[in-house]
Amino acid sequence: MQKTVFVLNGPNLNLLGTREPQVYGAQTLADVEQLCAQACARHGLQLRFHQSNHEGQLIDWIHEAGQLHARGALAGVILNAGAYTHTSIALMDAIKGTGVALLELHISNVFAREAFRHHSYLSPVARAVMCGFGVQGYVLAVEAVAQW
Ligand code: DQA
Repeated sequence: MQKTVFVLNGPNLNLLGTREPQVYGAQTLADVEQLCAQACARHGLQLRFHQSNHEGQLIDWIHEAGQLHARGALAGVILNAGAYTHTSIALMDAIKGTGVALLELHISNVFAREAFRHHSYLSPVARAVMCGFGVQGYVLAVEAVAQW
């Protein structure tokens, strides 16, 4: 059975390419989607790639991933929750409640930045955490999830 990878992006990631390029690089979210699509194709995985500025929408996608997980059809979820990483108990509960295998991803090295970015509500319920690889991190994340 072909398994699905969800790649979910939270607030402000639609601005990639123009948002603080010295931190996040020059590539756009469309470029990131293409990188993920190529990586998924290499591993025979189906890709669901989404971005939302709204917490509830991200939760709804995690619930959808949870339904695939329950059917054995989910490879994993790669989540860059943006600033919700540092604030959202609701996202943490969604990950915990669905039981999805989740890789928490950040483009920047959050530990080299402001102290408020050092705490994540998601890390304790994530299977893996990655940060600081730039947008290439998404490719590495797909490679990792393909082994799960
Ligand atoms: C981010 C890091 C977060 O602290 C920040 O709020 C983001 C992006 C990253 O990809 O490096 O929006 O998740």
